[in-house]
Amino acid sequence: MKSKTPNTRTPECEVDSMFIDRWSPRAFLPEPLPDYQVKILFEAARWAPSCFNEQPWLFVYATEPDKREKFLSALVPKNQRWAARCPLLIFVMARKNFEQGGRANRHAPFDTGAAWMSLALQARKLGLYAHAMAGFSQDKAYEILGVSRDDYHIMAAIAVGRKDESADDLPEDILAMEAPNTRKSWSEVATDRFPINEH
Ligand SMILES: Cc1cc2nc3c(=O)[nH]c(=O)nc-3n(C[C@H](O)[C@H](O)[C@H](O)COP(=O)(O)O)c2cc1C
Repeated sequence: MKSKTPNTRTPECEVDSMFIDRWSPRAFLPEPLPDYQVKILFEAARWAPSCFNEQPWLFVYATEPDKREKFLSALVPKNQRWAARCPLLIFVMARKNFEQGGRANRHAPFDTGAAWMSLALQARKLGLYAHAMAGFSQDKAYEILGVSRDDYHIMAAIAVGRKDESADDLPEDILAMEAPNTRKSWSEVATDRFPINEH
């Protein structure tokens, strides 16, 4: 096994370990995922909450080599280098307007983020990891997926698979990032002091 940077994750209180155990590795095993696992991931996403229960998310996924190849071609080269090994690639989109009435749904990205997180946490429960990516060409993704910019906001690409514990195939520059990172203190991201501008 190649050397890695140390694990720097220390919770500040007794949070459920599922939140600490989810992270975004880049060393994946290429083995295909059984269909039932793919289904469970999207089942988890399906139960996310959303404004007016609109469920504005759409996950378009690729497991077959030719489809994965197409998805990969939309990613930036740095993401292609590691995501190429992932057996499941996804683009997740948020529908821009409410199905009922057609008004703009400004909550759709928030709701779609909740659905992605459900998928990511479910992945860990299956012994898998999910890694989101903003590094892709929007133009290419719209072209490949065949959706309209008027209808959908393509939020992220997601690579899912089993982690390669040896990380032997990872190029050195990517290997250097292959460790769980840390977070701001919770007191920096949550406060009961407001108005904020007065402090
Ligand atoms: C919307 C979004 C876009 C991201 N884009 C990329 C990306 O293009 N390439 C990449 O390697 N990681 C990407 N990441 C992973 C983040 O760098 C990672 O989630 C963050 O550093 C926190 O680390 P953790 O997920 O390991 O806890 C992205 C994550 C999110 C949620």
